[in-house]
Amino acid sequence: MAPALWSCLILVLFSGLVASGFPRSPFRPVGKRSLPEGVVDGIEVYSTKISCTVTSRFAHNVVTTRAVNRAEKAKEVSFDVELPKTAFITNFTLTIDGVTYPGNVKEKEVAKKQYEKAVSQGKTAGLVKASGRKLEKFTVSVNVAAGSKVTFELTYEELLKRHKGKYEMYLKVQPKQLVKHFEIEADIFEPQGISMLDAEASFITNDLLGSALTKSFSGKKGRVSFKPSLEQQRSCPTCTDSLLNGDFTITYDVNRESPANVQIVNGYFVHFFAPQGLPAVPKNVVFVIDISGSMTGRKIQQTREALLRILGDVKENDYLNFILFSSDVTTWKDSLVQATPENLQEARAFVRNIHSGGMTNINDGLLRAISMLNKAREEHKIPERSTSIVIMLTDGDANVGESRPEKIQENVRNAISGKFPLYNLGFGNNLNYNFLESMALENHGLARRIYEDSDADLQLQGFYEEVANPLLTNVEVDYPENAILDLTQNSYQHFYDGSEIVVAGRLLDEDLNSFKADVKGHGATNDLTFTEEVDVKEMEKALKEQEYIFGNYIERLWAYLTIEQLLDKRKNAYGEEKENLTAQALDLSLKYHFVTPLTSMVVTKPEDSEDQTAIADKPGEARSVAPSLAYLTNYQPPQTPYYYVDGDPHFIIQVSEKDDAICFNIDEDPGTVLRLIQDPVTGLTVNGQITGDKIASPDSQTRKTYFGKLGIANALMDLRIEVTTEKITLWNGAVQSTFSWLDTVTITQDGLSVTINRKKNMAVSFGDGVTFVVILHQVWKKHPDHHDFLGFYVVDSHRMSVQTHGLLGQFFHPFDFKVSDVHPGPDPTKPIATMAVKNHQLTVTRGSQKDYRKDASIGTKVVCWFVHNNGEGLIDGVHTDYIIPSLF
Ligand SMILES: *[C@@H]1O[C@H](CO)[C@@H](O)[C@H](O)[C@H]1NC(C)=O
Ligand SMILES: *[C@@H]1O[C@H](CO)[C@@H](O)[C@H](O)[C@H]1NC(C)=O
Repeated sequence: MAPALWSCLILVLFSGLVASGFPRSPFRPVGKRSLPEGVVDGIEVYSTKISCTVTSRFAHNVVTTRAVNRAEKAKEVSFDVELPKTAFITNFTLTIDGVTYPGNVKEKEVAKKQYEKAVSQGKTAGLVKASGRKLEKFTVSVNVAAGSKVTFELTYEELLKRHKGKYEMYLKVQPKQLVKHFEIEADIFEPQGISMLDAEASFITNDLLGSALTKSFSGKKGRVSFKPSLEQQRSCPTCTDSLLNGDFTITYDVNRESPANVQIVNGYFVHFFAPQGLPAVPKNVVFVIDISGSMTGRKIQQTREALLRILGDVKENDYLNFILFSSDVTTWKDSLVQATPENLQEARAFVRNIHSGGMTNINDGLLRAISMLNKAREEHKIPERSTSIVIMLTDGDANVGESRPEKIQENVRNAISGKFPLYNLGFGNNLNYNFLESMALENHGLARRIYEDSDADLQLQGFYEEVANPLLTNVEVDYPENAILDLTQNSYQHFYDGSEIVVAGRLLDEDLNSFKADVKGHGATNDLTFTEEVDVKEMEKALKEQEYIFGNYIERLWAYLTIEQLLDKRKNAYGEEKENLTAQALDLSLKYHFVTPLTSMVVTKPEDSEDQTAIADKPGEARSVAPSLAYLTNYQPPQTPYYYVDGDPHFIIQVSEKDDAICFNIDEDPGTVLRLIQDPVTGLTVNGQITGDKIASPDSQTRKTYFGKLGIANALMDLRIEVTTEKITLWNGAVQSTFSWLDTVTITQDGLSVTINRKKNMAVSFGDGVTFVVILHQVWKKHPDHHDFLGFYVVDSHRMSVQTHGLLGQFFHPFDFKVSDVHPGPDPTKPIATMAVKNHQLTVTRGSQKDYRKDASIGTKVVCWFVHNNGEGLIDGVHTDYIIPSLF
């Protein structure tokens, strides 16, 4: 039997703060070049490939890294990937020496328990670190045996959003060592045609990259490839470290000849809308600026600079005002004023003179802005066809005046009552971002973080640019009634120049011939309706001809968008509605295999769906420091188990022909030895000695007993193995070897292989066809009642003879039973039935036992028919026939 190759697997998803990249090994040798190039601390990462396929803004990215352990002992290999916060992981697989461990998306709760267990056992767990700007970090570490190869493959997907006239895709590149085959490859397919495409790396100028970087586009297709040779990766001609360290950014946009584009594949549609060339709608902007004491210093300085630049961008027919809040509220003007050159001049002087100090009165600052806008509208002081926006900037939590977040939200919601959007900018990390986000979302706006950094002023100005040019207001997207289902958000207060409205849904009738969509909105001078009509059949045909398309991209895009919007809505929902939204988002996350805040990625071992090994979580903005990982120890079960005994000795006989199991207990006094297996042909015997709890209960009905000692013998080999909860002793004839449960060791000799996995389990194989596994159950040393105990599993018995007997051995032969007359018992969860077996009619009860092969502390549930009275009628003879005087 193969020894355990990886003793632990840890999957973490960090909000990435630290720049990092791809596999790394913990140490870097200094000036040591005896090993082949690209080998660092014994680990050679020989290939890293990032493969991106973008179809209609929907990006599907696969990061694959291959490494080999060239060291003479097992080593930990880590795989770090930073991915956009807006992306959902959809798959992760780990392949070690050709065996693939696939990832599955599960509801978070399911995985959490295991995480807690791992933590309680003192295993290291990952933390969600403070958020980076756009990326979060995914880390996996795995222990790789000497000479073994490991492949990591991570897949994530996201819908690229258009900002300021382009789509941007960030890839963090940081291999940390030279990689023989390093490659980034992006294929973009856009049915509207690509109008521009660029790619650049922050760590080096494109000139120097030379032949390593190629980019091209033509018609609907674009392609970027970055393939630096080993020489090109060196930070200097004689260096052995990599210069690849930073962002690789791909930007592109599509042709805008038509304001809208509709795509339909397999009954799902997506509708992109971004009209060009419209005049901007005049806007009334009120900046609500926090000038409390905590803004003092660089923050207020940067705010002043940003506001000055913004004033440079304001258009003459816009109206504006500034409201400053600290403990009190002050305003620049009593009401909004037009952005005439004279007024802008005056505004600059006002901004330069902003000073900070005092507390944080968010409530009064916002309410003043809102009432000012409402009043201006009522009194017709602003243009009829204008639109209003409130932009609030704060760096802390409300702490004076009304400071209860819920109450502030309520006041603001009532005051705005849906008339215009509120944008909240959170400066730095020392604030309740959830509150800002929730308040913005419920007022048709959004929240942004402004990161405390030297470019904070540019971040602020950049945000303003995004909302500076509303081309349409009150945008409604309509489809023929009764033609569509499951529509994503289809009304927007604003369409901003440089952005895009995306609506997706499902067609009620897949055989629809023509599809019509209307987009209505108020422009600067008139109301507009854009109608888009498409021939469904023709379009599907055209789209399906494209080899670039991965089949169901529209359906996945729809699912992505729907989940994103459900999660946003959920932020402001309560009670039943929240549960409903959660249930819907969870359903879709599971169905489409997305790691969202409600799900976790669980890496499962082959052939077992219940055995969860590791988990990746997606952190929300909300959590500052929270564990996001689960971890479980190994043990690779080989084949289907057939027979085992574990716990209070519970014997489980799986009858694979029936896909069912039978179970029974043997209740005997501590010290009793039971014969489990005896085969006169192969000479194999296995016996087990019963142990009790620390304080023996006199009542045999309630007392707990376990196996404390096992004896495995092969008479033909003159071999004996005694396994206790402390140690394993081998006798080869008279020669004795002793091992502790603290060892990880494999013992092989002709016809025998014994592998002890430290503190976990031990596998014994007698050539091909006979394998037993012993599981060590360790309890807390000072546990008042329980001792450590053992479980015994027969995982392969096909070479044992038909003469095999014993409590387990007698079931190795083909064997049948019938269950009839199933009816409810006194415990409604445990039905009672009649079992016909070995010419007996037995009353049996449905129950369940646990299979602990994969994890001694959790176990996998196995349902079985329980035979009462020490297996009476099921086992040959009576149970006392199996009692023998000693272990060997
Ligand atoms: C995950 O990736 C593996 C390896 O590429 C693949 O075999 C498997 O089908 C993928 N699973 C899903 C759900 O896409
Ligand atoms: C929950 O969702 C279902 C549709 O999935 C809807 O019919 C029902 O009204 C919702 N309940 C609440 C309280 O929102």
